[in-house]
Amino acid sequence: MTSTIYSVTLWGIDAFPVQIEVDVTSGLPQMILVGLPDQAVKESKERVRAAIKNSGFPFPSKKIIINLAPADMKKEGPCFDLPIAIGILASLGHIHSEKIRDYAFLGELALDGRLRKTKGIIPAMLGVRETHRQLIAPLENEAEAGVLSDAPLLLAKNLSEVVRFLNEGAPLKSPTTARKDSEAVSSILYPFDFQEVKGQRQAKRALEVAVSGAHNILMVGPPGSGKSMLARRLPGILPDLSQEEILEIMKIHSAVDSLVAERRPINRRPFRSPHHTISPAGLAGGGTFPKPGEITLAHHGVLFLDELSEFRKDALEVLRAPMEDGKLVISRARASIAFPARFMLVTAMNPCKCGFLGDTRRACRCSLSQILAYRAKISGPLLDRIDLHIEVPAVKFKELTETRPAENSEAIRLRIQRARDIQKERFKAEKIITNSEMGEKEIKKHCHPSPAALKLLETALEELGLSARAYSRILKVGRTLADLSESEKILEEHLAEAIQYRLLDRQSG
Ligand SMILES: Nc1ncnc2c1ncn2[C@@H]1O[C@H](COP(=O)(O)OP(=O)(O)O)[C@@H](O)[C@H]1O
Ligand SMILES: [Mg+2]
Ligand SMILES: [Zn+2]
Repeated sequence: MTSTIYSVTLWGIDAFPVQIEVDVTSGLPQMILVGLPDQAVKESKERVRAAIKNSGFPFPSKKIIINLAPADMKKEGPCFDLPIAIGILASLGHIHSEKIRDYAFLGELALDGRLRKTKGIIPAMLGVRETHRQLIAPLENEAEAGVLSDAPLLLAKNLSEVVRFLNEGAPLKSPTTARKDSEAVSSILYPFDFQEVKGQRQAKRALEVAVSGAHNILMVGPPGSGKSMLARRLPGILPDLSQEEILEIMKIHSAVDSLVAERRPINRRPFRSPHHTISPAGLAGGGTFPKPGEITLAHHGVLFLDELSEFRKDALEVLRAPMEDGKLVISRARASIAFPARFMLVTAMNPCKCGFLGDTRRACRCSLSQILAYRAKISGPLLDRIDLHIEVPAVKFKELTETRPAENSEAIRLRIQRARDIQKERFKAEKIITNSEMGEKEIKKHCHPSPAALKLLETALEELGLSARAYSRILKVGRTLADLSESEKILEEHLAEAIQYRLLDRQSG
């Protein structure tokens, strides 16, 4: 007898429908799997055989053919264990329910019949929803699944539970109960606070401005000045996420690793800080079954590249397209794949190879050519896409011993949130959400400096020799500064501050 079971397979961060056809006939006892399975799918045979036996069903001495359709799409992972087991049991007459067609099945089986946590549950739910079916998946995925409020999902502990549900209507758990747990996760407070950073008022201000408008930022300063310390505190001041953004983020993280998706606080933006040895593929993603890289994992959050000058040139090259388009396209012979990648880039580096150029405490040991070679490692096109570059000098001893507490992250976050709300209102009829995303058209429409501010900008351009590109960067940052002070017009003080954030332009000009 032949039976057809519905499931889905991951391709990138999306799930596509798969049909699993199982045919049991008399013949030499064997199990044959066809339809482009990878190694993990092939190993399903052994797990499914044991799980069926250990769930109390006899395993037949018959020929079993399993076909995964469509045949031209590669299938990945152990997630087909459950649908294959259901298909075999249905073909043998152990499941005799018409209901089987209303569901899609996904999940790895343990040898004892238990359902194991399986990655990609969120993309799977979204894919299954489009086919108007309900997904039956492992109970272990409960916490992760809870983010989707109208999830078409039922959760089972083991194979027997699924069989009893189909045959007798014994109820399965729905994820509504899981949502409360995920709310609890989101309220865990972030452990690092800006209050712990002494002094560095200007650097903190620049980071506040950067986050307010989602501007990319570069921090330049000697070793030990606190650049990494400052960056690590950014998650605590990032603005709230919308429901839509939460879902997009969870979908990406679920496709990579369900464990990560489950443990990450639901209402916090991602903060990714890959090591400088990362390969271009590590940043961009890729592979036979394309997986998102760090750039996509930072979607709607921060990508922090510490020690920027140490990164491989070809790795930094990967950043260019997504910084322009907010997405990353991986080309494949059959079909290219686009991963979302809208992130705020935060970078830090020393001013020179030895680290002490411009430092008052120690003399720089680098030659001029060494300094130039060091700077040249960061390509012009990358620097061009960074709105703010600031100097982070070593903290003065007096500031380090200061006992008066600095402002905490929550106070900073509230100001940022207000500035973001203003931007949301401004761009509600447009495709962008933050000032940093403005193109020439939006700059013309939304950035109106006062006459005095315009005069100041003109003088700065001439005297500091700033480029035309720097000009629009300054206007965008000026817009954010005006938003932070809740001013409709961009005033002189806003542009004066924005010009200060062009450290490298000023040095080279
Ligand atoms: N402004 C500061 N306030 C308090 N501690 C600081 C400050 N700057 C640096 N430190 C201390 O010095 C350590 C090294 O700072 P770090 O952030 O690694 O510097 P950088 O990344 O600029 O080399 C920090 O872990 C912290 O203990
Ligand atoms: Mg550091
Ligand atoms: Zn030096």
